[in-house]
Amino acid sequence: MMIPRPREAAVLGGTVTLHDGLVRHAPDDPRLGEEGYRIDVTPDGAELAAGGPAGRFYGLRTLAALGPEAPLCRITDRPAHSWRGVMLDVARHFMPKEFVLRLIDLLAVHRLNRLHLHLTDDQGWRLQIKRYPRLTEVSGEHYTQEDIREIVSYAADRFVTIVPEIEMPGHAQAAIAAYPWLGNQPSRHLPVWDSWGISPHVFNLEEVTIGFCRDVLDEVMDLFPGEYVHLGGDECPADEWERGEAALRRIAELGLPGPDAARAWFIATAGAYVASRGRRPIHWYDGPGGAPGVTAMTWLDHESGPRAALEGFDVVLAPHTSTYFDYPADTPGPHGRVLSLADVYGFTPPPAPEGATGRILGVQCQLWTEYMPTPEHVEAMAFPRLCAFAEVAWGTAGDYRDFLHRLSPHLESLGVRPGPVIP
Ligand code: ACM
Repeated sequence: MMIPRPREAAVLGGTVTLHDGLVRHAPDDPRLGEEGYRIDVTPDGAELAAGGPAGRFYGLRTLAALGPEAPLCRITDRPAHSWRGVMLDVARHFMPKEFVLRLIDLLAVHRLNRLHLHLTDDQGWRLQIKRYPRLTEVSGEHYTQEDIREIVSYAADRFVTIVPEIEMPGHAQAAIAAYPWLGNQPSRHLPVWDSWGISPHVFNLEEVTIGFCRDVLDEVMDLFPGEYVHLGGDECPADEWERGEAALRRIAELGLPGPDAARAWFIATAGAYVASRGRRPIHWYDGPGGAPGVTAMTWLDHESGPRAALEGFDVVLAPHTSTYFDYPADTPGPHGRVLSLADVYGFTPPPAPEGATGRILGVQCQLWTEYMPTPEHVEAMAFPRLCAFAEVAWGTAGDYRDFLHRLSPHLESLGVRPGPVIP
């Protein structure tokens, strides 16, 4: 049976030979949910009902997986989580457009519906911004706006939404290398960073820098039609603001309690701009003090998701110990961590806590590429763990042995080059 499995499948005994004329499309039934569907296979043929176009897309794929000699059955299916995401870091190592398209196909097979592209960081800026051409001139390879239109449209045809991420106010050294006036020492020419970690060089707090972010976000929102725009926001050291006269003056002017509050202010300000254009901002949540009004992607641990929900944030769960596929699956790598296939399959996303109903939007796995220089590396780290994650996200992860049993033929049908499968 396919990956991910349907939520409910009753097999009735017997089969029917399906050909095109024997598949009927019932009108949409909103009770099934936007991404849900129902299939009835009877001796007279198959009937597919769906809650919307995405549900019909998934239903047709399930029907195809039943094969031409389909078992008589009733399948009722819908995802447990509306955000079923994969993040690809194209900043640390650029990934060619062709690979992004292939990855979108692989997401669609697994009914994952968000591809979050981490487009900028200390080590590179990978998105053409027409108003600020130096951003990509200093960074080498990048996506043109034409490339992005192709990626967005290819994804939409497969019910995958691209979530663009522009990092601010930290993880921004590549932008500061292009335009030193964005930094806290405007007369200093920094290079695009060439090592891993967290650069101490962050955006300054001046209105002109907020204006730069608004200009960039304008082009981003024109290119990416999805609801969410990711503003980064993680791991922003406040040292330059603590030491800088201009930053301290600005912090006082803004009435902030101190430099440590400036990161949340920056994200909330950019977030309000995104919201003013009818979109939703989202950020990496680094603990209490997250940016008000900005959806939280909680990566620190398992507890921070429910906690952020209780603080009033909408939440996407991305706890690193269960969802960071840059951690090797077998022996510890540069981070000193391991994330096995069994651990991914065993990840049980916590429900929204009492008092925060509906605030947990879903789950996301991450492919940070510091140590994945090529698409081949990414594929070997993504698979087979992405297959396990897909069942977690859809809500059908159950018996691990059964999953392993289904996995081998599934991987073969995908044609991917997976990393190790350790039962
Ligand atoms: C992160 O891993 N810094 C979001």
